[in-house]
Amino acid sequence: MTFTPIKSQREAIAQALHQCRDRSLALFEDLDFNTFCNQAHSEFSPVGWHLGHIAFTEGLWILEHLKGDSPLYPQYRKLFAADILPKEQRQNLPSKETILEYVHDIRRLVLDYLETAPIEEQSRLWWWLIQHECQHNETASLILQLQRLQHLPAYPVTPSTQNRKIVSEMVEIPAGEFLMGSNTNPQDNARPAHEVNLDTYWIDRYPVTCGQYREFIEAGGYQTRQWWSQAGWEWLQHNPVAKPLYWSENQAWDDHPVYGVSWYEAEAYANFVGKRLPTEAEWEKAARWNPVKEESTSYPWGEDAPNASHGNFDIRMGETTPVNAYPAGKSHYGVYDLLGNVWEWTASWFSPYPNFEYFPYRGYSEIYFDQQHRVLRGGSWATRPWALSSSWRNWYYPHLRQIFAGFRCAKDD
Ligand code: AVJ
Ligand code: FE
Repeated sequence: MTFTPIKSQREAIAQALHQCRDRSLALFEDLDFNTFCNQAHSEFSPVGWHLGHIAFTEGLWILEHLKGDSPLYPQYRKLFAADILPKEQRQNLPSKETILEYVHDIRRLVLDYLETAPIEEQSRLWWWLIQHECQHNETASLILQLQRLQHLPAYPVTPSTQNRKIVSEMVEIPAGEFLMGSNTNPQDNARPAHEVNLDTYWIDRYPVTCGQYREFIEAGGYQTRQWWSQAGWEWLQHNPVAKPLYWSENQAWDDHPVYGVSWYEAEAYANFVGKRLPTEAEWEKAARWNPVKEESTSYPWGEDAPNASHGNFDIRMGETTPVNAYPAGKSHYGVYDLLGNVWEWTASWFSPYPNFEYFPYRGYSEIYFDQQHRVLRGGSWATRPWALSSSWRNWYYPHLRQIFAGFRCAKDD
């Protein structure tokens, strides 16, 4: 008899730490120091800060909290902690070499500790930490994209496909209960799993494409009060835009998802086509409920770990792909492109599930349960695979359009 060796929890964590870190470092490899320190946008820190913050967070949770060490580089606490300096005061960074030395020093101690750490009782925090690095990888990717945008005449320049014109199609999701949330996702806000009952609704098979969104632009959508909510119209008056932030006039991009839109623009487009944004429960049921087996799966396609056939994520492509490019990634209901490509705005405010318990600190999710942040689901081309699942919740202010966010629409039966 032969057995496939099952990797131990310790080995799996070590491998994820390495694989995640490789790509983190690659993002910074060819960066000049100006780009490293430059604040591309007021709501985001300089990209180099994220590198230091990744190391700081690793030292704080693994070396200080789990191992019991005292802080290794106490002089960096003020600069690299999440909640001390305002973002515009993070531009005075040590050199890239100095920060890299910090990153490597912390990592060496962490790997030493991992060899003997009581991993069974600690595993949630280790996986949380890997996901934390993933999130900062994505933020670094979008800051780098903002910086390219400031230097390039037009975005983007190399369409990856011929114009095939996706037409809008909807999938019916029959009424009934499903299991929302997860008891295994390390994220506090995704727990616990709980039953939710939904009426029958319809959801777009694909995210809204650039081709579809162009019709809204050409119909004068940005100039027509009727499509906008009160808050959306007010936002538009103060931020007079007339197209998404990430946008090309080249129609070869027509089958790619629209992105670089605020929540208000997504809402206005949905009104324009006589639909609405899905609630996050509607998004999640379409993304993981298996109506035959009556169970929720971790991913749209089931339980297999995400690979390159399932979708556009992990910064592999560096840009979006057509919304129908990954049939292997579709959900039990036949909904496409749920994980990867672009995040999807939902109608829901970010709020706790029943019996929420914060982890690892109160300020991670809880302070954002403030009826000011909208939930995004799915993941983008820059989301790393350890932070990708159908139960994952992301959240941002509705006016933010620098993130890699698009949307799909829903409607009542
Ligand atoms: C959930 C992506 C908005 O980047 O500020 C990272 C995630 N929290 N470190 C962020 C997070 C702490 C958070 N977002
Ligand atoms: Fe962080």
